[in-house]
Amino acid sequence: MANRLFRKKSVEQIMRDSEHGGSGLAKILGVRDLVSLGIAAIVGAGIFSTIGLASFNGGPAVSLLFVFVAFACVFTALSYAQFASTVPVSGSAYTYAYVAFGELFAWIIGWALVLEYAVSNMVVAISWSQYFVSMLEGFGISIPKWLTMAPAYATEAHAKMLEVGAANLSGIDRIGLQAYETAPRIADFPIIFDLPAGLITVFVTWLVYIGIKESQRASNIMVMIKIGVILAVIFGGMFFIKPENWTPFAPNGMEGVLSGVAAVFFAFIGFDSISTTAEECKNPQRDLPKAMIYCLVICAVLYVAITLVLTGMVNYTELNVKDPLAYVFQYVGFDQMAGIISVTSVIAITSALLVFQLAQPRIWMTMSRDGLLSKRFSKIHPKYKTPSYATIVTGFVVAIPALFMKMDFFVDLTSVGTFFAFILVCAGVLYMDYSGLSKKSKFKVPYINGKYIVGIGFIVGIILVYFYGSETVADWTNMDSSQIILHHSLVIIFWLTWLILSIYSYKLNFSLLPVMGILINLYLMSELGASNWIIFLLWLAAGLVIYFAYGYKNSKLNKEATAE
Ligand code: ALA
Repeated sequence: MANRLFRKKSVEQIMRDSEHGGSGLAKILGVRDLVSLGIAAIVGAGIFSTIGLASFNGGPAVSLLFVFVAFACVFTALSYAQFASTVPVSGSAYTYAYVAFGELFAWIIGWALVLEYAVSNMVVAISWSQYFVSMLEGFGISIPKWLTMAPAYATEAHAKMLEVGAANLSGIDRIGLQAYETAPRIADFPIIFDLPAGLITVFVTWLVYIGIKESQRASNIMVMIKIGVILAVIFGGMFFIKPENWTPFAPNGMEGVLSGVAAVFFAFIGFDSISTTAEECKNPQRDLPKAMIYCLVICAVLYVAITLVLTGMVNYTELNVKDPLAYVFQYVGFDQMAGIISVTSVIAITSALLVFQLAQPRIWMTMSRDGLLSKRFSKIHPKYKTPSYATIVTGFVVAIPALFMKMDFFVDLTSVGTFFAFILVCAGVLYMDYSGLSKKSKFKVPYINGKYIVGIGFIVGIILVYFYGSETVADWTNMDSSQIILHHSLVIIFWLTWLILSIYSYKLNFSLLPVMGILINLYLMSELGASNWIIFLLWLAAGLVIYFAYGYKNSKLNKEATAE
């Protein structure tokens, strides 16, 4: 059984499958298109919405968190790039895991990627809706509030009102309360949902359904608008910066800054999504690695600049709003600019939605080709040349929760799933080096020998915790073991992983950059709350049930092996 579970695919086999499988996808994308698709995916709800709450909690120092997270992403992007240059087919981390770790891990990653693509798109759809509603309000058009949000926002606002009184509610809660009070009711149950979020998902799914070429054209235009908005905020906002807003730089200390990890990481997610279009690239082995790194560097620079501008224009305590980019201009009295940003943001966020809506079906298509999902998921539309069935399923999977669920829940869940996938991709590169598979890579992660550095880093880390982490150590000693397991198991896993990697780096001369990728991603992951972890584990358990009920038997590798 273990043989079956960990059965691997060879690179040759994967390339043959994708050619003979006759995916029929059109090969039209070059570096520029890929960078455009990458930026389209990366710059979305993260920078347009969730950055608000992260800055509110962490203050201007969140800009440094952007730099730190960008490093984690660069190490991961290099690993993705090496894989993409070795196995240039759709499927992204799922396919890479099939080569490196075998079928079971491949399935687990494919299942985790649903969190990265489909679930993150729920966040993007909700963010789109928030900008859309505020744009309409700018034009004097008002949609009933109960049609513009998840029911939880309204019921929470109602509960707060009962507790503190209507006069003491914040702006966001006042709108929630309005939704609660004006919603039609079935029995006593208020009917509240986010209609614009559902509708935009349906529209984008249709766009993706009718063809990659059309999607890419639309995406190129939207990306130009998106970069335009970001640059306008940076250069327009610069004139309103009051340096005194930057002090204190980290008003809530490290804890405040790190509470933004999920939101900041969320803002970078997407650079890997372009690897799912490998079969639609003219020269994937040359172009994908370049495009990924370009995207990441461009976005990191833009993000740091925009965080400094936002926190410089207004005091960080003002930033707990859903549309921070437009809000700051409203705040400083530049209403026209706020209006322009609202309108253009709506267009810009649409492009993020588009790329993920494009990526998810392609991963399912690859999994279906391997027999791990029903054959219908790899059906290609004869006229539009897109994975039609998988695209429609993605549409439903994203649209329905976007109508009813809160954004924050999905941000955290997306981040856990994505960190998990990133760690396995970095680990996969170590395996490629070890097994000699790297010889087939046209792009390689620059090699720095980690033989001593990883272990020395570990010892230095322990010493630093000893001298500077006395508060944390005291916290831990006050907890009983069940609390430690519940809240800090990941921290323990982080240190154990570092120790194990130190030993293996010494023995096998591991490449330093993928090791750092694993460690930084794992560290950031350990900063997410325990509840996210529990939901993630439940998600994985559900995935395993599906695998053993379907994929295990229907896997193409399994069928080929039993036919021999
Ligand atoms: N990075 C993407 C966004 O911020 C997921 O919307």
